[in-house]
Amino acid sequence: MKIYIPKWPKIHIKTVFTLLKSYLNGYWSWYGRNEIRLIKKFSKLHTAKFALTTVSATSAMETILQALNIGKDCEVIVSAYTWISNITAISKVGATPVIVDINPNTLCISCEKIREAITEKTKAIMPVHLFSAMADMEEIMNIAKEYNLKVIEDCAHAHGALYQNKGAGSLSDAGAFSFQQSKLMSSGEGGMIVTNNPQLAVTCDSIIHIGWSLFNKVPNPPKDIICSKLVFSEFQAAILADSCDYIKKETQKRIENANLLEFLLKDVDAIRFQETSKGTTRRSYYYFVFMLNYDKIKQNVSKYDIINDLRKEGLYAENGWGVPVYKHEFWNLSSDKYKKFNTDIAEKISMNEVICLPHPILLTNKKNIKNTADIIKKVIKKYTK
Ligand SMILES: Cc1ncc(COP(=O)(O)O)c(C=O)c1O
Repeated sequence: MKIYIPKWPKIHIKTVFTLLKSYLNGYWSWYGRNEIRLIKKFSKLHTAKFALTTVSATSAMETILQALNIGKDCEVIVSAYTWISNITAISKVGATPVIVDINPNTLCISCEKIREAITEKTKAIMPVHLFSAMADMEEIMNIAKEYNLKVIEDCAHAHGALYQNKGAGSLSDAGAFSFQQSKLMSSGEGGMIVTNNPQLAVTCDSIIHIGWSLFNKVPNPPKDIICSKLVFSEFQAAILADSCDYIKKETQKRIENANLLEFLLKDVDAIRFQETSKGTTRRSYYYFVFMLNYDKIKQNVSKYDIINDLRKEGLYAENGWGVPVYKHEFWNLSSDKYKKFNTDIAEKISMNEVICLPHPILLTNKKNIKNTADIIKKVIKKYTK
């Protein structure tokens, strides 16, 4: 059976002309026409007052932490199941990452475990909307209010997502997006900060522009905050400003196909799906994620046996990093540089259970989705008790 997996990032002819126009007009940097177009569209899409471009989600998170004055002697609570740049951003500003377990259904940070990890040093929570299932933002914001904590959303997997009809990143103090090659909106590399807080926006903008900000009439760098140069180019902005016009339609298509795939696989007892968290009003589906139910799977079968078989059948599947963050091959922190609570759920699920289908497949037609379901059924059946 042939599975069609479209190339990503998707090429739009209109953008070829936008890029060409930008190249020819010779204004290539610092808040050019495309960047202004982008930040207007991106902030609107995510119901945020401000959107600020930067070089990556990693640097967006560092900038937000720095602007919030989070550093030495501060603790930031983070999920055990995430990309390593949550940890590097927290460590880079001199704060201590505090790693806690996940909710086994949504795979996002567990609110119960956040509460258990709070100390007088805790200054912030950094939830990740992992694989686009959004974190329980209502409860996280309740906890933050109760303990006077900042919240920074990692939205690298959540472009265009809505929670209680509010955009990802706009639910907290600030959100960080990635435009790296594989992401739902991409300019090869790049990042974005969204926030509703004007003061935070000016400080982040100044950090990004070596002390200058679009929002200051005259240069007014924030006192004693070390600014950097983390700016975007007009070419990245040109691509992304156009993508803002496509993202809603693409998201709708991914939702329809993800729902169809779940429906076609609903009777396969040996798998379960990553749940959409309560409160999510639009899920963006960076990945379609299913997990193995080992009560129904034959003994001594690993998820890699299944991933390999899916690939042999022509369905490209991934392991979702295959480890919790502190077991990642890039991990380099000594044990006194971070705190970790019991994270048995994140270990078990990330290492043994999670199988991911990257988002491009969700932009294909119903027949392709049906073929995808048939391959998953066939492979899972082979390993079912
Ligand atoms: C959950 C998550 N957060 C943050 C990032 C970092 O994004 P960037 O590569 O733009 O720094 C990634 C990148 O893959 C990610 O998956």
